[in-house]
Amino acid sequence: TSLNTRRFLKVAGLIAAGLWLAACSKQEPAAPAAAPAAAPAKVYVVGTDAAYAPFESQNERGEIVGFDIEVVSAIAAKAGIEVRFVNTPWEGIFNSLAQGDRDLLVSAITITEERRQSMDFTAPYFDAVQLIAVRQNSPVTKFEDLKTLKVGVQTGTTGDEVVTQLLGKDNTNVRRFESTPLALKELESGGVDAVVADNGVVNHYVANNSTAAFKTVSDTSFEPEQYGIAVRKGNTELLDKLNQGLAAIRADGTYDAIYTKYFGAPAAAPAASN
Ligand code: ARG
Repeated sequence: TSLNTRRFLKVAGLIAAGLWLAACSKQEPAAPAAAPAAAPAKVYVVGTDAAYAPFESQNERGEIVGFDIEVVSAIAAKAGIEVRFVNTPWEGIFNSLAQGDRDLLVSAITITEERRQSMDFTAPYFDAVQLIAVRQNSPVTKFEDLKTLKVGVQTGTTGDEVVTQLLGKDNTNVRRFESTPLALKELESGGVDAVVADNGVVNHYVANNSTAAFKTVSDTSFEPEQYGIAVRKGNTELLDKLNQGLAAIRADGTYDAIYTKYFGAPAAAPAASN
């Protein structure tokens, strides 16, 4: 009998195990047929040094806003891609792109031959030029006059380049700051005699900080500059999408509407592609 009992238990056990497995395997197909999980849409991470109004800055709620943000958002909508803006200090911005931490950069970045060596740019989306800011009582009337003065610039910008060229590479009168607003603060407090930066930013600062009592000085010796959106070198897939989106917002008036919102009137004829 004990043999029969053992055999019975063994068979019963096998049946139980079989039923349990069957129940388990049934669970899967019985689950409500969910829609096949859509691959999560790629979100392109956009680096921007958000201390450069009116192109990019942070509002009271900490949101990144500005002309560049609206242009890239409009381009993304046309191109059918998703973007997320991440505040990125200027000094590390190109590295963050090269390392893959950012997929693209929009930061009032001037397209230069040197930068073209290490990244790719879209067609130009904005024309700019350097502009000098000085205190209202300053005798400065032209760029040359800065030769013997203390001049503030944002490190690694085209403003830094032109000032370094005029004053000389090792001249300690070139005062480099982490951000353009910091350089302008220093001008207000008298630590520097002038600041050289992009016209849009200098004009915006002077117009919005009347207590700083600045004036601007332009100089025809400054080369015209054009801003582009940067992607990693060879990322033609993204570059093509951005260029197509840019062409589309130029064609349908979206670009002009954004430009007018920030600068009061539509831009002169679009910059020739270079
Ligand atoms: N256009 C200048 C350059 O490319 C200055 C850009 C600075 N941009 C910024 N968001 N801080 O060098």
